Amino acid sequence: MSVAEIFETMAYGPAPESAAEALGWIEAHGGAFGCWIGGAWTAPGESFATRNPATGEVLAQITQAAPSDIDTAVAAARRAQPGWAKDGAARARVLYALARLVQKNARLFAVLETLDNGKPIRETRDIDVPLAIRHFYYHAGMAQLMAADALPGRVPMGVCGQVVPWNFPLLMLAWKVAPALAMGNAVVLKPAEWTPLSALLFAELSVEAGLPPGVLNVVTGDGAVGAMIVDAAVDKIAFTGSTAVGQRIRAATAGRGLGLTLELGGKSPYIIFDDADIDSAVEGLVDAIWFNQGQVCCAGSRLLVHEGIADDVHDRLRRRMDGLRVGDPLDKAVDVGAMADPVQRDRVAAMVDATAGEVYRCPAPLPERGAWYPPTLVTGLSSADPLMVQEVFGPVLASMTFRTPAEAVSLANDTRYGLAASVWTENVNLALEVAPKIDAGIVWVNATNLMDAAAGFGGMKESGFGREGGWEGLAAYTRAADQGRPVKTVAPVAAPAKPSATTLDRTAKLYIGGKQARPDGGYSAPVWSAAGALLGHASLANRKDVRNAVEAARKAAAWSRTTGHARAQILYYIAENLSARAGEFAVRLSDLTGEPESSGRDEVAAAIDCLFTYAAWADKYDGAAKGVPIRGIALAMNRPVGVIGQFASDDAPLLGLVRCIAPALAMGNRVVTVASEPFPLAATDFVQVLETSDVPGGVVNILTGSHTELAPHMAGHMDVDAVWSFSGRDISTVIERESAGNVKRTWVNHGRDVSGTPARDWLAAGCEVQTIWVPYGE
Ligand code: NAI
Repeated sequence: MSVAEIFETMAYGPAPESAAEALGWIEAHGGAFGCWIGGAWTAPGESFATRNPATGEVLAQITQAAPSDIDTAVAAARRAQPGWAKDGAARARVLYALARLVQKNARLFAVLETLDNGKPIRETRDIDVPLAIRHFYYHAGMAQLMAADALPGRVPMGVCGQVVPWNFPLLMLAWKVAPALAMGNAVVLKPAEWTPLSALLFAELSVEAGLPPGVLNVVTGDGAVGAMIVDAAVDKIAFTGSTAVGQRIRAATAGRGLGLTLELGGKSPYIIFDDADIDSAVEGLVDAIWFNQGQVCCAGSRLLVHEGIADDVHDRLRRRMDGLRVGDPLDKAVDVGAMADPVQRDRVAAMVDATAGEVYRCPAPLPERGAWYPPTLVTGLSSADPLMVQEVFGPVLASMTFRTPAEAVSLANDTRYGLAASVWTENVNLALEVAPKIDAGIVWVNATNLMDAAAGFGGMKESGFGREGGWEGLAAYTRAADQGRPVKTVAPVAAPAKPSATTLDRTAKLYIGGKQARPDGGYSAPVWSAAGALLGHASLANRKDVRNAVEAARKAAAWSRTTGHARAQILYYIAENLSARAGEFAVRLSDLTGEPESSGRDEVAAAIDCLFTYAAWADKYDGAAKGVPIRGIALAMNRPVGVIGQFASDDAPLLGLVRCIAPALAMGNRVVTVASEPFPLAATDFVQVLETSDVPGGVVNILTGSHTELAPHMAGHMDVDAVWSFSGRDISTVIERESAGNVKRTWVNHGRDVSGTPARDWLAAGCEVQTIWVPYGE
C-alpha cells in the first residue's frame, strides 16, 4: 500500500508484538510445567494442554495436580508461614521487590498473558500488568504498616487457598496474593486451567525477589484441583469465579471455621440519562463490554438507556462497533481479541442464538482459526429476557430503555447480582443521587471499569462478599489475635419437682413489625426461675414466624435511608428508657439466671453502655475518600447490609441481645433477632422498651424459641442479607451451609465467645463498603 493510499484510507497496518521471548521461556521449560511447591518445580505429572485461543495452537503441557501435590503444597505453606509472619518490614521489602520484578518483566508478562488468554496486548500491557504491579506496591506498604497502623491486634489467617479464573489471570493473582502475603499468610494458589502460564512465571520469578520457599505455592489443574484446595487443611479460601462454584465452595467450607471471600459474577447496569455526554457514554461502553471480550465480572453488560435518546445511542453505538478492530491479539492496534476458550465462545453463542431481541454484530471479519465472537448489541429486550438477567461473560451488550430516574434505579437493582454499575449524566445532582441507590459494590460515575489497589472491589447479593483492595480488603486476610473463650452453653432452668405457686400466668409474645404477635404454631414453653418459680411462658417461633418477621423487616426499608444522626437519637432514647427501668430489669435478670441482683445491675449497665457506644458511632463510622491515581476520587461509602438475622448468645440475656441489635441499627440495618434460648424473657421485656423509644415498626423484630430449629430457616431465607450467630447452640455449620442459596454474608462464632470483638468490627459487619468512583475535570 502506498503512502498516498494510506493517507486516503487511514487504515492501520499490522503492528504485531513479538512472542519470541515468551515462547522462549516456555521452551526453556521443555514445553511442560509441573507445580511450583516449596520454592521449586515438581516434575510434570499427568497433564493437559494450554492453548493460544487466538490460533488453537498448543502453548504448553500443564500438570493436573494430584491430591498428594495439594498435601505437599499445604504442608510447605504451613511450614513457611510462621517465619514469614514474623516481620512486616521484611515482608514489605519482598513485596516491593515483587512489584519491581513484574515491572522489569512487564512486556514478558503482557505477551505471555495475551498468548494464553487471547486478550489484546494493548489491554495486558496497559491495564492488567500495570494494575498488578500497583497492587504489589500498595500492599508492600500495608505489610510495613500492619502491626502499628493498619491492623494492630490482628494476626494472619495462616495458609490461604486461592482459586482464580481465566479472565484476568495475573491481575487476579495479584489481587489475591499481594494482600495475603502482606498480612503474613502463606498461599496455595490455583490459576484457571485455560490460563496458568502467567502464574507459573510469577512463581518462578518470586525467588529473585527473595520470597522464602513455601510462602507461595502454585498448583495447576481444573475445578477438581480447586475443590481439593477447598477441602484441604487451609485457614482461608479466596475465590473468584462463577456464582455456581462460589455457592458450592460456601457449602463445602461450612462449619470449618475458615475465612471465606467470594468474588462472583455480575450483570452490571450501565445507565445513560438523556443529559449525558452521549459520545463519552458510547466510548465508555466500548470499555464496559468489549474490554477483554466482555469476559469481565463487572462488565457493563446491561445497557439501560433513557427512552428519548435510545435510538440515538444505539445508532452511534452501531457506528462505533463498525470501527472496532477484531483480530490478532498480539497486534498493538487491535481492539478486540479472542475469547479465552472455544468452550466459552460456544456458551456465549448459544445464549445469543436463543434471544428474541434484535441482534447487531460488529461487521469486522473474524479470523478463521481460534475462538472468536464478534462484539454484539441486542436491543428490544424486556427486563425478564435471559440476556438481561444472566451473566453472558462475552462481548454481548443487552439493551433496554427507562423513562425516569426511579425506574432506572429499580431496573438496575432488578437482578440477583450486585457487583458494579455505571451512571452517565452531566448532572452531578442526579449522578450522586442515583449512585448510592444502586445495590452494587462499585459504582462509576461517567466512567467504567476503573480499578485500583487503594479502592475496595467486590460485590453484594449473589456477586459474593468480601472486598479486595484498600484497607477494607485486609480484614479478610487477618483474624483477631484473641479468638475468644469457648462459648458457654446454658441450659434453661428445668421445671422444678414442686413448682411454687404463681399468681399470674403471662405468655410473652413475639415482636414482629412493631406489634406483639402470637406465634404461628401456637406453642409456648414455661420459663422457670432458678428458685423454681414460674416466671411466665415464652412463645416458640417457627419457620412461618421467621418469614413474617423478615417480611416486616424488608418493609421497614426506610430505616436504612435515615441519617446516622437520626439513628443515634433513637439508640440514645432506647438507652434512656432502659435506664429508667434498670432496677426492674436487674431483678428480672437475677430471677432468670439465679445470679445475684448486683450482676443483673451490672448487665443492665453494660447494655446501656453498649447502646450509648453505638449511638455514638452511628454518625461517626465514616467512609473514606481513596487516594486513587486518577483525576478524581473514589469514595468508600459505608452502606447498611440490609436485613440481618441474628442469634443472641445463651448467657447474658439482655446484654447479648443488645450487643447484636445496637451496632446493626447504628449502621441502618433492620434485624430479626432470636433471643437467648434459655432466658428469653429479658428480650420480651425489652420489647416494651423498644415500644416506648420511637423505633419504627419492623426495624427490630424479636423472636423466641429454639435456635437449632430456626437457624436453617433464617439462613436459607432469600430475603435475609446476612446472619450473625453468637449462640451457644451448635448452629454455625447449618447457617454457613444454608446461606449458600443467596450467598449471604455470615458471621458465626464456631463455638467461641466473640463478645469481646471491638466495636469497629461489629460496625464493619453491619456495612457493605460501596466504592463510588467520581472522575472530574473538563
Ligand atoms: P468457574 O467458576 O468454574 O472457574 C473459576 C475457577 O474456579 C477456575 O480456576 C476453576 O478451575 C475453579 N473451579 C471450578 N470448579 C471448582 C470447584 N468445584 N471448587 C473449586 N474451584 C473450582 O468458571 P468457568 O466454568 O470457567 O466459567 C463459567 C462461567 O462462570 C462463565 O461463563 C462466567 O459466566 C462465570 N465466570 C465468572 C467469573 C467472574 O470473575 N465473575 C470468572 C470466570 C467465570
